[in-house]
Amino acid sequence: MKLPLHLVKPLTLAVAAAAALSTAHAQQPALKVGLMLPSSGTFAALGDAIEKGFKLYVQEQGGKLAGRDIAYFKVDDESDPSKATDNVNKLIKRDQVDVIVGTVHSGVALAMARAAKESKTLLIVPNAGADAITGPQCAPNIFRSSFSNWQPGYATGVIAAQKGYKRAMTITWNYAAGTETVKGFTEAFEKGGGKVVKDLSLPFPNVEFQALLTEIAAQKPDVVFAFFAGGGAVKFVKDYDAAGLRKNVPLMGSGFLTDGTLEAQGAAAQGLITALHYGDNLETPRNTAFRNKYAVTYKSNPDVYAMQGYDAAQMLAAGLAATKGDVKQQDALVAAMRKAQIDSPRGKFTLSPQHNPTQDFYVREVKGNYNVVTGVAVKALPDPGRGCRM
Ligand code: BEZ
Repeated sequence: MKLPLHLVKPLTLAVAAAAALSTAHAQQPALKVGLMLPSSGTFAALGDAIEKGFKLYVQEQGGKLAGRDIAYFKVDDESDPSKATDNVNKLIKRDQVDVIVGTVHSGVALAMARAAKESKTLLIVPNAGADAITGPQCAPNIFRSSFSNWQPGYATGVIAAQKGYKRAMTITWNYAAGTETVKGFTEAFEKGGGKVVKDLSLPFPNVEFQALLTEIAAQKPDVVFAFFAGGGAVKFVKDYDAAGLRKNVPLMGSGFLTDGTLEAQGAAAQGLITALHYGDNLETPRNTAFRNKYAVTYKSNPDVYAMQGYDAAQMLAAGLAATKGDVKQQDALVAAMRKAQIDSPRGKFTLSPQHNPTQDFYVREVKGNYNVVTGVAVKALPDPGRGCRM
């Protein structure tokens, strides 16, 4: 069929423009995403959930972000801070990734943040709460999709004080996540009229709790606050129950104590009360869709770690959308990430000026295999971002 002459020229131009656009996309190589997560050790399941969450969001976008295919480069960080600098440099120097997503362990993440700041590589932290990352070590190219350690500790302290407990003991691993979470708990608990009478700790990732449980039994505080996660949390909750302590000394914790762990903890965890920025039964269309998609894709239920991985991908997508996938335009990419409102399964959140989520912290109670939300501990809690200068 012959087209009328007045249509031939615009049509030719439109076809040429479309061809040019598709060539531009075709010319963009795959975006290199470095996943530095634990796939061995006590936090292995947490790393796995983060990766699954991240990839689920990418899959929902047709396997591309801002029109670019994604190539994954993976390093098992073993939750070992002594190997962290070498490990992160495999991604930065050897693989020359465009963005790093990681990790779980605060000590490992601190080394990653140092390397990312020096090399100006975009870093999105999908779990590790080390306060310094959005504090003294903050940087324009470093973001977090999870929490600062202070936040869930503080939220749990608020609930413990509201329950009228007066004397608390704390127990945790002796590294940044443990000590900073306990600090947050103590700040809120003592503001609410309580007193922390003793802090107990053991080295990460030890799980020989017996001597410390004996000390708790001897002191008989009104409540125990614990930070443990992953395999260590499973063992601690079971040991606490087996020692017969639950009848006499209520156990509370930041929600990591019971997240992703309930099948293994079984009866020992029933009724435990924690605070976290996620709960399994948040009945919003966004959370329901996320949980259904995750369950269908992976034949398992998502947890807080999966949700944080999913949101790390959402944050990256928000930045890439502003630069049409070009990570080299870092100022524009960072500006878009800073002002994004993330439509998260946890509820919508924005970022603090130091790049940490300002978010609601929920009260949760363990019922069966779920952390069921029973209220809000603190609404829109910002990370204080103490010491950040940017
Ligand atoms: C951390 O090391 O920051 C961490 C690890 C597991 C759960 C929560 C925090």
